[in-house]
Amino acid sequence: MKAVILVGGQGTRLRPLTCRTPKPMLPLVNQPFIEWMLLRLRDYGIREAILAVQYLADRFRAALGDGSRLGMKLHIIEEPEPRGTAGAVKHVEHLLDGTTFIFNGDVMTDLDLQAMLDFHRERGSKVTISLTPVDDPTQFGLVETDRDGRVRRFLEKPRLEDITTNLVNAGTYLIEPEIFRYVPPNQFYMFERGLFPVVLQTGDPMYGFPSRAYWTDIGKPQTYLDVHHDILIGKVQYHFRGQQIGERIWVEGEAEIHSSAQIVGPVVIGHGTRIGRGTRIIGPTVIGSHCDIGPECQIEGVVMWDGNVIEEGATLRNCVLGSGNRIGERSHVTDGAIISDECQIGQDNRLERGIRIWPGTALGDRAISF
Ligand code: GDD
Ligand code: MG
Repeated sequence: MKAVILVGGQGTRLRPLTCRTPKPMLPLVNQPFIEWMLLRLRDYGIREAILAVQYLADRFRAALGDGSRLGMKLHIIEEPEPRGTAGAVKHVEHLLDGTTFIFNGDVMTDLDLQAMLDFHRERGSKVTISLTPVDDPTQFGLVETDRDGRVRRFLEKPRLEDITTNLVNAGTYLIEPEIFRYVPPNQFYMFERGLFPVVLQTGDPMYGFPSRAYWTDIGKPQTYLDVHHDILIGKVQYHFRGQQIGERIWVEGEAEIHSSAQIVGPVVIGHGTRIGRGTRIIGPTVIGSHCDIGPECQIEGVVMWDGNVIEEGATLRNCVLGSGNRIGERSHVTDGAIISDECQIGQDNRLERGIRIWPGTALGDRAISF
């Protein structure tokens, strides 16, 4: 069985983290999210996958190649221009041979794929859409079904007054390839606003598969942080790659941790990272590889990628740092701030309240302070 993973979106809601890194390549606990997805497929015996790429396609090729490193056969297929979710699958239709899983490339879930496949087969479905309950369906595709699960209505990003259920499209589909006869070739075409409404009209069997599995769309800064939080507190099954050195503290490879540093798990520390004298790191926090966190820093609820230098006395709380940044002495980065890549932040700055700093930004000393 094959899978198609849709990874061509630009990840606009996650900018500036996605300026240089496509959303599915963002690190999730120091491992590209897409790798985690592929390994999950492999665990289910799905060893061949097609990545429908578009934005920053070379990043996928460089990181994944033909997939052999992960024990998978991978086809990385680039659209000449964005074709939309269904148009992207139409573009790789020649590679499909029978029932196929299709995944949005930004969904963290431990959905039972075998149970979904059984459901699809038992009903003779042509399209099965996984469903998940959410608090606010306006951000998603609302799916109404009858008692047997047959889809009666699909409404992408519904208005408040149109909400009749809290079940939404969870971004995993099972399809029979014949359904792509309804998708026009070489065009921008969406599952959500195109194919699903069409299938409702043609009457081909289309079912919704509800599940209470763990589910988050990582496509927004807060959900990107939340998903780390959930993994670290054990809300979702996750295999930590590092060695456990203390109560919910994992180190990947070798790290140098000063004897006076205080680490309160859950915390993951990447290979080659140094934690200086008197620094406090409080979980849930993930620190990438080759970071240098200098004396007397306070770090709490942070996701930081590789190669960051955090100077003496800096405070980082509830924020995301990309890679290769320098945060100057006594600076504060807090409250949902995002610093992307290769930024130089001088001393005594206060970056707060969801501020977003674009790649390569240089801020002098006391440039932003309150
Ligand atoms: N190849 C390719 N080409 N991929 C694309 C394109 C494209 O033109 N456009 C989007 N994608 C990929 C994105 O990379 C992402 O993995 C997936 O398709 C979904 O796109 P998003 O932009 O993340 O959509 P969304 O989150 O607003 O809504 C979708 O997901 C929700 C669940 O998370 C819809 O499917 C909703 O109905 C659904 O509820
Ligand atoms: Mg999404």
